[in-house]
Amino acid sequence: MATIKENRRFLKTYFSDMAGIKTDAVLGLEKPAAQKQVKDGERLIKLASPSKDIVKCNDTFDNIKSRRSVRNYSDEAISFEELSYLLWASFGVTDIDSKGNKKRAVPSGGACYPIETYIIVRNVKGLEQGIYRYRPLDNELAFIKSIDKMQEVIESFMLDSKQPYLPGFANGAAVLFAWSAVPYRGEYKFNIMTHKKILIDVGHICQNLYIASESIDAGTCAIGIYDQDRVDALLDLDGEDEFVIYLAAVGKKK
Ligand SMILES: Cc1cc2nc3c(=O)[nH]c(=O)nc-3n(C[C@H](O)[C@H](O)[C@H](O)COP(=O)(O)O)c2cc1C
Repeated sequence: MATIKENRRFLKTYFSDMAGIKTDAVLGLEKPAAQKQVKDGERLIKLASPSKDIVKCNDTFDNIKSRRSVRNYSDEAISFEELSYLLWASFGVTDIDSKGNKKRAVPSGGACYPIETYIIVRNVKGLEQGIYRYRPLDNELAFIKSIDKMQEVIESFMLDSKQPYLPGFANGAAVLFAWSAVPYRGEYKFNIMTHKKILIDVGHICQNLYIASESIDAGTCAIGIYDQDRVDALLDLDGEDEFVIYLAAVGKKK
């Protein structure tokens, strides 16, 4: 069991802790892939190209000013184009530089991007209810599995009895985002110095989701209270080399 003192130290950055450590990058080991490979049986679905046309409010000032955590959602579905936009805005590729590097909507320490985005789709036009993984480098979804009993599945990991604001709110969301950490993508370059950065990275991603949601009249609420083992099991993650670190619910505002 960690102590407060230990956890506070984790929040700090002492590069002196790296003395004597040779990173796998320095050792010349193979660089890990920037996104997970497609597994056998996963169906790929091309996402819509990002377009300003669906954005209702393009004003950064207004979107920042009005952003709030939204826990009450209407029954209106999110369109496929809106979902594509939210994925792109939170973690997508926005440019390719002169060296061929794909640039992202969010910063990442050392450009490691040690995060995967999963979505639990409940009410998105044109998509069956189920679990998908975003493949940002190819602007596509990998369909992992369908879900029959959506409410049961969401309640299984939401720890609603511990939710301080509106227990059960995730059941009304059109889509849940679940971000997993793939620590080795950062460890390869930063070894023990990467883990704090992973948490900072995912904060950037979620904030972009908040602002992008606001711009299409949808609402988001970050979720930090959840059952670790159950959500990892739901997404077929091993809990060691990949595990969920943060979630968010998204739906059209009431
Ligand atoms: C790391 C983090 C975890 C959060 N976890 C939850 C959560 O599990 N349930 C919830 O209802 N809100 C959650 N929130 C939303 C906060 O309650 C909310 O941001 C805060 O009350 C301020 O309100 P605002 O976002 O509307 O400005 C979380 C926010 C952050 C940044």
